[in-house]
Amino acid sequence: MLPRFLPLEDGKDSFLRTQSKPLPIRTIKIFLLFLTLAFGVLVLSMYATRYFDVRSAILQPKVSIVHPCAEEENELKQWIKAPLSLMHNMSDEELFWRASLVPLLEKYPYKRVPKVAFMFLTRGPLPLSPLWEKFFQGHEEHYSIYVHSLPGYRPEFASDSVFYQRQIPSQVAEWGKINMIDAERRLLANALLDLSNERFVLLSESCIPLKNFTIIYSYLTKSNHSFVNSFDDPSSLGRGRYNPKMAPEITVSQWRKGAQWFEVDRKLAARLVADTKYYPKFKDFCKPACYVDEHYFPTMLAIETPRLISNRTVTWVDWSRGGAHPATFGRGDVNEEFLKRIIEGQSCLYNGQPSSVCFLFARKFAPSALEPLLNFTSNLLGF
Ligand SMILES: *[C@@H]1O[C@H](CO)[C@@H](O)[C@H](O)[C@H]1NC(C)=O
Ligand SMILES: *[C@@H]1O[C@H](CO)[C@@H](O)[C@H](O)[C@H]1NC(C)=O
Ligand SMILES: *[C@@H]1O[C@H](CO)[C@@H](O)[C@H](O)[C@H]1NC(C)=O
Ligand SMILES: *[C@@H]1O[C@H](CO)[C@@H](O)[C@H](O)[C@H]1NC(C)=O
Ligand SMILES: *[C@@H]1O[C@H](CO)[C@@H](O)[C@H](O)[C@H]1NC(C)=O
Repeated sequence: MLPRFLPLEDGKDSFLRTQSKPLPIRTIKIFLLFLTLAFGVLVLSMYATRYFDVRSAILQPKVSIVHPCAEEENELKQWIKAPLSLMHNMSDEELFWRASLVPLLEKYPYKRVPKVAFMFLTRGPLPLSPLWEKFFQGHEEHYSIYVHSLPGYRPEFASDSVFYQRQIPSQVAEWGKINMIDAERRLLANALLDLSNERFVLLSESCIPLKNFTIIYSYLTKSNHSFVNSFDDPSSLGRGRYNPKMAPEITVSQWRKGAQWFEVDRKLAARLVADTKYYPKFKDFCKPACYVDEHYFPTMLAIETPRLISNRTVTWVDWSRGGAHPATFGRGDVNEEFLKRIIEGQSCLYNGQPSSVCFLFARKFAPSALEPLLNFTSNLLGF
């Protein structure tokens, strides 16, 4: 007879009862039979493994049957491939350390196709995503996308979207606070994990591209400078936000202001992630009305690598209306005349030479601007 649980009210009680009964002969027999069978299978498999190993060694001496999927053509691939999933459980401390590893040999010993990392710092949804989808289409080899959104937000991108599963582990980021900088560095650090990323652009949900992908890619990858806006503003909104407690690391004459929306190359991205000298100064002594996102990177890079930054931004924005926030453009604002004003008639320096292409992106655009913008992609925006 097989042991059976008695249908008692108390399950634990019935279990104990079954345990205390002596094992019936039939159970022992079945167990012994099973043991014999298992032993037989073991012996057989040991013999089979040896037999096939010898056979394969004779037939194809270089291919081992133990590793049928080994990528023997290029072992380096194993060490340089980008992480399969963007999700991870690393703390910022762990992530930043990993991201700050930089090769000492500058020449890549393989054919490296540099990519532009588009880093979206958002609250949640990306209302202008259809415009970006169109912009990215056909350029899969040359970009990667990273999205930082507020932690509670659950994105719903279709599996064929360029934004599908491009969310990075995120934390709360509030405008003007140090956790906004943490989010920017988190984006940089996650993007640095992919060794093919060479240029890193910070964008918001209200940004649009002003040129097609080919032009933007070439403009960024061929530039000798990173596009970080950095200038000395003697007014109360510039030097007025400096705190003497930041000395001696930062003096008032070194203090800079600039737009939050930057573009940096890989070298500077690693520096920004690895910084431990300036970060504590800004964390402790730059609180509203000192807006840390307008001062930290512009000041640090002006001190550390002044010759590597252009001091100008590639993201157009309209401050002409005055006030604390730039203008937002909606359905009624977007027309041919408006777009031409942003795209044409500019002048700036590019690699030390005069250029009429100065802005690659623009902000701020409301969700209602999407439809008219899509109307102008093929002629004015060029994609
Ligand atoms: C992170 O850790 C949690 C809890 O240990 C686990 O469930 C989850 O799968 C981990 N995520 C990743 C991406 O490893
Ligand atoms: C940017 O400004 C710094 C001073 O802060 C200057 O040294 C540097 O040459 C400027 N860069 C360019 C490209 O003009
Ligand atoms: C950019 O830098 C490279 C290497 O430093 C140099 O060879 C090249 O002439 C520079 N180009 C311009 C336009 O300044
Ligand atoms: C988009 O273009 C179509 C056809 O040219 C036009 O009928 C429509 O009004 C335009 N929509 C907007 C929002 O500009
Ligand atoms: C990108 O725009 C430029 C200038 O508008 C144009 O010459 C080029 O053909 C466009 N490239 C693509 C791939 O559409």
